[in-house]
Amino acid sequence: MAKTKIAVLASGRGTNLQSVIDGIKNGIVGNADLRLVVSDKEKAYALERAKNSGIEALWIDPRAYESDDGYNNAILRELKDRDIDLVVLAGYMRILSKSFVRAYKNAIINIHPSLIPSFSGRGYYGERVHREVIEYGVKVTGATVHFVDEGTDTGPIILQQAVQVLGEDTPESLAKRVLEVEHALLPRAVDLYCRGCLRMEGRKVLVKNGGALCEKEH
Ligand code: GRF
Repeated sequence: MAKTKIAVLASGRGTNLQSVIDGIKNGIVGNADLRLVVSDKEKAYALERAKNSGIEALWIDPRAYESDDGYNNAILRELKDRDIDLVVLAGYMRILSKSFVRAYKNAIINIHPSLIPSFSGRGYYGERVHREVIEYGVKVTGATVHFVDEGTDTGPIILQQAVQVLGEDTPESLAKRVLEVEHALLPRAVDLYCRGCLRMEGRKVLVKNGGALCEKEH
């Protein structure tokens, strides 16, 4: 089976990107070729992480485009030029255009730091997610990896894992524990995708064979 060609879009420090880079290196992620990292931020540390691992790093400046659509199309062109199969959003802070999402239907993966559909949707990013989790008083939060559809955080869920909320938690302490789970969950989801282990049934994402030996079915 041909390797799945991946591009990661990231706006920030890129620890989730690093988890995928490391996962490919140590074999947790199979059948994957991470060949491009794109950022909307010139100084995003994610771009440095890419360069440090010999991966092409591209800063595409949104200010150079008149519209969001124009910007999205510019990224899309770079992905198509490189035959990218899978797009991974790892802390990418912009909403993708409808035409972008359509061009990569069920081939864009996002990581979100809560148990979707709780504490998700427009405006739920960064510290706000964890602050609201604590203020609401829920006892369990977690991380979700999902396919991206035309809504915000509404696409089919691939993997989720729970994290206990502790009485003494601050947004920072909770974010730290959730992030550790993200770093395990994202490479696992990318691996399942790249090895052809995911199957859609309506909006449900099913894992074939419990994730084992999926290659044989292709
Ligand atoms: C993570 O919490 C992720 O869930 C969210 O943005 C954050 C990115 O962190 N989408 P990093 O840049 O991967 O370290």
